[in-house]
Amino acid sequence: MKTLVIGTGGREHALAVGLAADPGVSEVHAAPGNPGIGQVATLHEVDPMDGAAVASLAVGLGVDLVVIGPEAPLVAGVADAVRAVGIAVFGPSRAAAQLEGSKAFSKDVMAAAGVPTARSRVCVGPDEAAAALDELGSPYVVKDDALAAGKGVVVTTSRAEALAHAATCDRVVIEEFLEGPEVSLFAVCDGRTARALQPAQDFKRIFDGGLGANTGGMGAYSPLPWAPPDLADAVLTSVVQPTLDEMNRRGTPFVGTLYVGLALTVHGPRVIEFNCRFGDPDIQPVLALLSSPLGALLKAAADGDLGAVPAPTFTGGAAVTVVMASAGYPQSSSNGDVIVGTETLDKEVDVDVIHAGTVRTSAGLVTAGGRVLAVRAIGSDVADARAKAYEGIATISYPGAQWRRDIAAEPLGVVEGASLVSAESSDEVAPSAAGPITRLDQERR
Ligand code: AMP
Ligand code: GLY
Repeated sequence: MKTLVIGTGGREHALAVGLAADPGVSEVHAAPGNPGIGQVATLHEVDPMDGAAVASLAVGLGVDLVVIGPEAPLVAGVADAVRAVGIAVFGPSRAAAQLEGSKAFSKDVMAAAGVPTARSRVCVGPDEAAAALDELGSPYVVKDDALAAGKGVVVTTSRAEALAHAATCDRVVIEEFLEGPEVSLFAVCDGRTARALQPAQDFKRIFDGGLGANTGGMGAYSPLPWAPPDLADAVLTSVVQPTLDEMNRRGTPFVGTLYVGLALTVHGPRVIEFNCRFGDPDIQPVLALLSSPLGALLKAAADGDLGAVPAPTFTGGAAVTVVMASAGYPQSSSNGDVIVGTETLDKEVDVDVIHAGTVRTSAGLVTAGGRVLAVRAIGSDVADARAKAYEGIATISYPGAQWRRDIAAEPLGVVEGASLVSAESSDEVAPSAAGPITRLDQERR
């Protein structure tokens, strides 16, 4: 099977590595890719947002499967353009990608499907927003309805700040605050049915202890030794299958990854958000542990026939990914800083370097973006994988490199004696009368 991966980031590098490791995959191509992806795939200079160009590349290469990594091309309809030329695509149609492209749409689908999620109101204008804030209460959760590249959500105890954010958006979803650790669950969907991958957890803030600004994700680990063992099955039953059924009822079947962002509340798992693609970096440790063939799984999903392959299997042990960012991230980023040491890790069996924002120039490998690379390691358990990942980080350097020292040191959201509240404290939110607000720092966009 010949495959083509669309995108440039760490998620796409991890996918390309996974596809290259599948004995059923004969060729891996990527567009536009990055220097790390170039080690396992043939790169092509094609704009990932240009559906016609991606489709003609896929036809020219004669690929059997196109895997579209990021949400932007999916929401823009690139999967439709490729399907229209008769090539199998892992990734939803433009219509189905609205599950991520519009928060109001996803809440509407969740309501129709009976999926457990936060109570919410869709609001236009300050009066509707104010009424919803008062109805649903503090901490206030205000989400831009549209795709906002991670900047659309504000969680705050300040009513003024909540209103100010609403005023910057055409339409907002205001919802009830969900208390509990956050989990990423990736469901591979074929339009009718789904298979869950092992859950992961993502560390969102730039600084140790969950402090500082929100980022795209500074590290992740999988599996979650503290999570209920039946979590994936429970979420397939209560969230994923009803969502797929509802999307079918609407005539827009969902094919691709339904990324279920969950809060494990005292009342059970509740959906915080849907995304229409794998999470980055959260998918990286999950793919490191996948022992069944990735290409066969994604192709079966793209063909609408997940029943044709056995359920995905995972090696024992754990995997940890630690992200290295460039100077200034997340407010800005620094390009052109020379990166040394990545090649030392090429020889390692349990450790690999996942490229995200790198380019190769005459000066060598240099930074080209906010999140530059990640060191990913597998080990016998989370602590072992974590130790190996940080040994790897120590061998890499560039001016201004920043990384968190506490990735997977303790699970986010778990404190002694109270498994459903966060261990992290917030620098921005005072404790409420009802008890400490403990999870705002995990991710506040
Ligand atoms: P989203 O883009 O919907 O994932 O929201 C970004 C982040 O805001 C999430 O990862 C959560 O940390 C936080 N968040 C979103 N919705 C809620 C909610 N209803 N309750 C608590 N936190 C939330
Ligand atoms: N790591 C979170 C995301 O990909 O949205």
